[in-house]
Amino acid sequence: MSYKANFRVWRGDAAGGELRDFTVEVNDGEVVLDIIHRLQATQASDLAVRWNCKAGKCGSCSAEVNGRPRLLCMTRMSVFDEDEVITVTPLRTFPVIRDLVTDVSFNYTKAREIPSFTPPPELAPGEYRMQQVDVERSQEFRKCIECFLCQNTCHVVRDHEENKEHFAGPRYLMRIAELEMHPLDVADRREAAQSEHGLGYCNITKCCSEVCPENIHITDNALIPMKERVADKRYDPLVWLGTNLFRR
Ligand code: SF4
Ligand code: F3S
Ligand code: FES
Repeated sequence: MSYKANFRVWRGDAAGGELRDFTVEVNDGEVVLDIIHRLQATQASDLAVRWNCKAGKCGSCSAEVNGRPRLLCMTRMSVFDEDEVITVTPLRTFPVIRDLVTDVSFNYTKAREIPSFTPPPELAPGEYRMQQVDVERSQEFRKCIECFLCQNTCHVVRDHEENKEHFAGPRYLMRIAELEMHPLDVADRREAAQSEHGLGYCNITKCCSEVCPENIHITDNALIPMKERVADKRYDPLVWLGTNLFRR
């Protein structure tokens, strides 16, 4: 079974752009990325889109479909009505390079700002020993495919360019939490999490967790536990409220 779908795709570059309408064939079992590829093959050969694995594992094809951040290769056409207009736009939080491709270097900058794993100096590689429960705790965070959908969604930076300098975003606050929970990491990351990486900006709306294609419980399993570990409660009214009002 095939039908014609109405697509509206953002075309443009850093200087500006517009939504363009296309009518394009859809076949059973296809995903949005298939339709974008068909557009390239038949009507818009210069349409820019970033993708690689087409299996939800490389994190390249992040964009917004009807305003919702999604992986284009994991968004089935069957979730839309056949007469629905499907609007595909680039990630809103990062600067556009061209069409559906954005410059996500903000995320790499934030990654570099986090001090790496710091084992005890007296332990040589090969002498590390951990409990299985500690290994398993960080496994969830290591499922991250760096699609940056969570970074794109968080309201702290989504419409607030001015916050980007002071906020690492959920993916990298999760990385700090992972290292802080690591039994062999001797660096104390609590003060820097708050003062340098903006943990206090997060007001646990959980939008990051909702869009994560790996279903990582970013807020519940990383950000809230990290907030609980941060000693200086003055900067974080949520932790202060939880500690002082709700505990008897
Ligand atoms: Fe993507 Fe989830 Fe990793 Fe965020 S935590 S970058 S949403 S896989
Ligand atoms: Fe942003 Fe996630 Fe916190 S969406 S506010 S980092 S819970
Ligand atoms: Fe790799 Fe979509 S193309 S996640």
